[in-house]
Amino acid sequence: MTATYHVKTFGCQMNVYDSERIGELLEAEGYAAAGIDTADVVVLNTCHIREKAAEKTYSDIGRLKARVAKPKVVVAGCVAQAEGAEIVARAPAIDVVVGPNAYHRLPALLARGGIDTDMPAASKFAALPPRRAVSPHSAFLTVQEGCDKFCTFCVVPYTRGAEVSRPADALVAEAQALVAGGAKEITLLGQNVNAYCDGATTLAGLIRRIAALPGLARLRYITSHPRDMAGDLIAAHAEVPALMPYLHLPVQSGSDRLLRAMNRAHTTASYLATLDRLRRARPDIALSGDFIVGFPGETDADFAATLRIVADVGYAQAYSFKYSSRPGTPAATMAGQVPEAVKDARLAALQAAIAASALAFNRASVGTRCDILLDRPGRRPGQLIGKSPWLQSVVVVSPGARIGDMLAVDLIDAQPNSLEGAPVTLTRAAA
Ligand code: 5AD
Ligand code: SF4
Repeated sequence: MTATYHVKTFGCQMNVYDSERIGELLEAEGYAAAGIDTADVVVLNTCHIREKAAEKTYSDIGRLKARVAKPKVVVAGCVAQAEGAEIVARAPAIDVVVGPNAYHRLPALLARGGIDTDMPAASKFAALPPRRAVSPHSAFLTVQEGCDKFCTFCVVPYTRGAEVSRPADALVAEAQALVAGGAKEITLLGQNVNAYCDGATTLAGLIRRIAALPGLARLRYITSHPRDMAGDLIAAHAEVPALMPYLHLPVQSGSDRLLRAMNRAHTTASYLATLDRLRRARPDIALSGDFIVGFPGETDADFAATLRIVADVGYAQAYSFKYSSRPGTPAATMAGQVPEAVKDARLAALQAAIAASALAFNRASVGTRCDILLDRPGRRPGQLIGKSPWLQSVVVVSPGARIGDMLAVDLIDAQPNSLEGAPVTLTRAAA
C-alpha cells in the first residue's frame, strides 16, 4: 500500500512555501497526500516567532501521538531549528526533527530517524525536485531567506540564519514553471525580500525579469525592511504594471526611542520619508505593516506615538502583536518588561485604530472598478472571494465565474476586512 503524508503549516508564507516543497519531495518519493488523521507521516512545519506559536507544536505532537494508528511525526521549520534536541527531550515519541535549511534530506531522515538542523552551505533548493505541474492561481516563490538585521525582539536571525539570496536565473525558471502550471499571480517571499541580491540583480531587477513572463498578471513581494527600500525598487512600482500597488513595510513602533532599543536602524521620520517616495512613484499604493505593543520599556507616551503613526500612514491593513519574550534574544533580558494586562489594553486600542484605518481605506475604494483574482468560495452559497490589486478581499456573486478567474468588479460596499463587488467582465482562467 502506498505510504501517505500530511504537512501542517504554522506561521508565515515562507513556511507555506516550504510545506509545498516538502509535499513535492515526498510525492517524488512515492508518498500520497492524506488527511492529518490518517497519514502515515505527519510533518509539522512550525513557527517560533512568538511563544504561543511555538507551543502549538507541542499540543499537536500530543494529539498526533494519541492517534490509534500512530503516525511518524516530523517536526520541521523554526521550532525544529531553535529547539532541536530539546524537542526530543520534551516529546520523546518524535521521529524526525529537521530544520528549514535541511528538509531536502527528509527522505533519508525518515528512513533512519534523527535530528538534522544543519545550515549547509549548499542550498537545499538545488536538491529539491522540480515544481509541480499544476500550481495554485496565486503561488509563492521564496527568493531570499534569513535575516542579518537582528532586531532585538526577534528569533529569525537565529532560526533562519544569515541573509541568502537564490540565483536569479533559477528563480526566473521556477517562476516560469509556476506560470506554465497556471499561476496568474506570484508573491516573491523572503524574510528580508527587498535585501535580495544576486550579483548585479537586485529585487527590482528580479521583479522586472519575472514580470516579463507572458501569462503572469500580478506580482507581489513580502516582507520588506524599511532600511532596504532602494530607489530602483521604488521606481519599479512606477514602471512595472504587473507589480501590484501594495506594500507590507513593518515599522513595529511609532517611538524613535523604542525603534533604537529594537535595533531597527530606521526612525519614524525616515520611514515616513520612504512612504512619501513610494506614494510619489505609485500614488494609489496601499500600505500594510507590523506592530509590536509592550516591548520592554514601552511607556504610554511611546504607545501614543504608535497610535499616531497608524493615523498618519492610513494603513490599508496591519498586523499587531503583543511582545513575546524569546529566549536568547537581547530584548528578553531588558529591563522594563511590560505587564500582560497593559499589553492587552494596548493591543485592543491598536487593533481598533487599525480596523478604523482599514475601513476608511476600503470605503475610499467604493465606487471604483478593479480586477479581482478569485481565490476561494465565500461563506454563502454562490459567493466567491477574490483579491483586489490592493489585496482587499472582495465578495461577489457571479454565476459562471470560478476560482482562478480574473473578474472586473464595481466595488459597491465596504467593511473593515472585506468589500462587496458587482461583477462586470470575466476573464476565464486557462483550463
Ligand atoms: N514578539 C512579538 N511579535 C514579534 N514579531 C517578531 N518577533 C516578535 C516577538 N518576539 C512580529 C514582528 C514581525 C512579525 C513577523 O512578527 O512585528 O514583523
Ligand atoms: Fe526579525 Fe527584524 Fe529580521 Fe524582520 S528584520 S526577521 S523582525 S530580525
